[in-house]
Amino acid sequence: MKRIKLKLAPGVETEFVDRDRALARVVEWAEKSTRFPVVVFGPEGCGKSAFLRQAAETLGEFGYDVVYVDAAHRDFVAYTDVAEVARRLLDAASDVSGLAQLRLAYLAVDLARELIGRWGRRKVAVLVDEAFQAVGLDKAGIYVKSLLNLIEYPPRSYEKIVAVAATSEGVTREEIGRHLWAELRPIWNMPKEGFRQLYDKIPEPRLPFEDVWRWTGGNPRMLERLYSSGWAVGRVVEDVLREKRLTAGFVVKWRRWLEEVVEDPEILWTGDVPEELVRELEVRNLIVYNMYDRDPYFWVDQPPPERDLELGVGRDVAWQTPLHREAVRLALREA
Ligand SMILES: Nc1ncnc2c1ncn2[C@@H]1O[C@H](COP(=O)(O)OP(=O)(O)OP(=O)(O)O)[C@@H](O)[C@H]1O
Ligand SMILES: [Mg+2]
Repeated sequence: MKRIKLKLAPGVETEFVDRDRALARVVEWAEKSTRFPVVVFGPEGCGKSAFLRQAAETLGEFGYDVVYVDAAHRDFVAYTDVAEVARRLLDAASDVSGLAQLRLAYLAVDLARELIGRWGRRKVAVLVDEAFQAVGLDKAGIYVKSLLNLIEYPPRSYEKIVAVAATSEGVTREEIGRHLWAELRPIWNMPKEGFRQLYDKIPEPRLPFEDVWRWTGGNPRMLERLYSSGWAVGRVVEDVLREKRLTAGFVVKWRRWLEEVVEDPEILWTGDVPEELVRELEVRNLIVYNMYDRDPYFWVDQPPPERDLELGVGRDVAWQTPLHREAVRLALREA
């Protein structure tokens, strides 16, 4: 299986590392089809897009005609000899009217349909990254339904279809989960040994691996950010604080709870915590709420530990990374 090339940081190229279980999952999809659209979700920067791109490549190797669209970033990859596919994707991506994202998200589904109906392709894969951000979070359910329609009511008989969407928006799970239209499958930050391989690609001087592991919890985007900041952990934390709008007002309002939650995120699950706070933390992509059973069946790749308070992982609730938690700690100190 060929591993795709990725850019981890400016000047740091790497191939897609580790994620062996996730790749085995792709092989399973390739061999059996996805009965329902698979919706992959997980912490921001954990590697969902990298995984989807790698999956596109792998499905191509399995003889699929593949359409991959990163709606939010107006990017796409097509593995097909139908030239019209790339042409139409390019046309949608270059739309300057502000509709490019929306068009790309729907075009991916249309093209998959046409690959089957018009061009008689028997194995088709459609992989959509950040689709819900593009179509609107309130339409996430409808979008997934359109993927399901493709699987259930194809314009012509086919051999296999693989349909996968990825999102970092935790709140969309609610919208999707209300219907039985999708298989929701979480992916976590990288497991330690895989993450070490990525760390090894970063030029020296570096912060010691164990420190990087403790700060990032295996999140490749955070590794990149630490490296790009010259390993200035404090600056990255401060950036996260601003990005997440952890204002004094917010922190003062929830201080009593937040002080407990930075120690143990599970408080959000078992404690008498206001729902509004859970939602605020979820919308800001600070936590993952309602985690799955650690049975690997439910996970795209290796599941996180059952509980690891050093990394901010509880059984049902986890900080997306220790750096996310640290930003809240800093906000609490500053307020
Ligand atoms: N398995 C991997 N091997 C090599 N590089 C990786 C791997 N996973 C992720 N990366 C790199 O880490 C960075 C973050 O990954 P990526 O953009 O895929 O995360 P994401 O989960 O899609 O983030 P977002 O939530 O913002 O969409 C990228 O530079 C990506 O190329
Ligand atoms: Mg992404």
